[in-house]
Amino acid sequence: MVGHAGGSSGAAQQAQAKPDAVRNADIVPMVWLSCGLAALAGLLFGMDIGVISGALPFIVNEFHVSTLMEGWIVSSMMVGAALGALGAGAISQRFGRKKALLYSSLLFFVGALVAVAATSPHILVVARILLGLAVGVASFTAPLYLSEVAPERIRGTTISFYQLMVTIGILAAFMSNLAFSYIESWRWMFGVLMIPAAMLFIGVLMVPNSPRWLASRDRFEEAREVLNKLRSSKTEIDYEMGEIEESINAEQKSRGFQMFKENPNFRRSVMLGICLQLVQQFTGMNAIMYFAPQIFQMSGFEGTAAQLWSTVATGLVNVLATFIAIGFVDRLGRKPILYAGFTVMAASMAVLASILVIGPTTTLLQYTGMASLLIFVAGFAMSAGPLIWTLCAEIQPLNGRDFGLSCSTVANWVGNFAIGQFFPVMIAAIGGAMTFGILSVLNVVFIIFTLLLIPETKGISLEKIEKNLMSGKPLKNIGS
Ligand code: BGC
Repeated sequence: MVGHAGGSSGAAQQAQAKPDAVRNADIVPMVWLSCGLAALAGLLFGMDIGVISGALPFIVNEFHVSTLMEGWIVSSMMVGAALGALGAGAISQRFGRKKALLYSSLLFFVGALVAVAATSPHILVVARILLGLAVGVASFTAPLYLSEVAPERIRGTTISFYQLMVTIGILAAFMSNLAFSYIESWRWMFGVLMIPAAMLFIGVLMVPNSPRWLASRDRFEEAREVLNKLRSSKTEIDYEMGEIEESINAEQKSRGFQMFKENPNFRRSVMLGICLQLVQQFTGMNAIMYFAPQIFQMSGFEGTAAQLWSTVATGLVNVLATFIAIGFVDRLGRKPILYAGFTVMAASMAVLASILVIGPTTTLLQYTGMASLLIFVAGFAMSAGPLIWTLCAEIQPLNGRDFGLSCSTVANWVGNFAIGQFFPVMIAAIGGAMTFGILSVLNVVFIIFTLLLIPETKGISLEKIEKNLMSGKPLKNIGS
């Protein structure tokens, strides 16, 4: 790396002013292909989240499990995912993003196979942990890979596209749950997970390594070769290599945890990443993803069929509203979309809470309750769903990216676990109205959080964000 430091000074100077040829360069098809294939990891993520709500009643029936064991079958996946995300930083730094995605697809395949063949609830818990490990690694690696491969002009769009795959995965799982519920086969519900796992494995074999990871391992020539495939002109490649080399050669030489201990600026971006993911989880979205049928019941909808179809409706709205983010994230920017999303979520939760205070006594009130739930899902899908992953992948400096992203991804899964565990407890202890009221207030707090701490990262290179962070600029200004 040291050898490159001198040689890169010319390139580093080029990084000062960005030529128009770079700013407006064409996006080559290989970028879309690589991003599309890596985004398949999102499908796996979503299907893993969606499968359990449909499979659980049949599992409980077959094995006569206790409530405690039931809880474990659900939450062991989140525990596995937190562990997977914890280890993913080291794996993806040592072996690269591409191999990390390959390992994750293999784990996913094996986890699904063990679930299909499970002869006891304990084996099922093992299968869920394996699936969790796979998802933990995938949910860490995919946004990271996308952020490192996509030109900055479409970076937000590609990571939002990844979130679209998450939502399609959830919807696909809801629909396959519904289909297999007719033959009462929870094993098939898990069996279908092997399809996206195989698709991801084959897809990832075709994508190039991340140029930024290659450079961080001193493999500059290979990084340049990859950029040759991913960028349309030599000017663009020279410019980007210049930026990458400059950030690698910056005064900061330590990496990961060492860098976290030594560098207060890096500590700030790690803390911001953790807060961002906790914010995403405490919007309350997963309370709806996991407990939609029960919430619809509280709002006055009786009957399993109505509840299951309403659940599919939430999955569909989740997919459709993600397109709003895809369309606007690189045009309007991250912050305006987050303000809009948190406002929609706060308002819809307040409406739902009020309906539960009055009691869903009339059809109008019942449908208003249902509409507010769907509007809430839309608010999340157009904002915090995709944008938190985008921001987390953007704010970390190159030498600490794996560590920082690992911490925020673990926070995502810990928050996810907490919501899954505590939401039903809160409903039982303080009631639906109060619980949704608290979620509404939290979303208002997140508007203030966005205002005070979140940077606008639209259209700015990862290397510029890093420079701003390291020069001590306030977090909310590191994107300008
Ligand atoms: C979140 C998941 C959530 C999903 C819903 C993701 O961005 O991290 O926890 O279940 O969105 O679409």
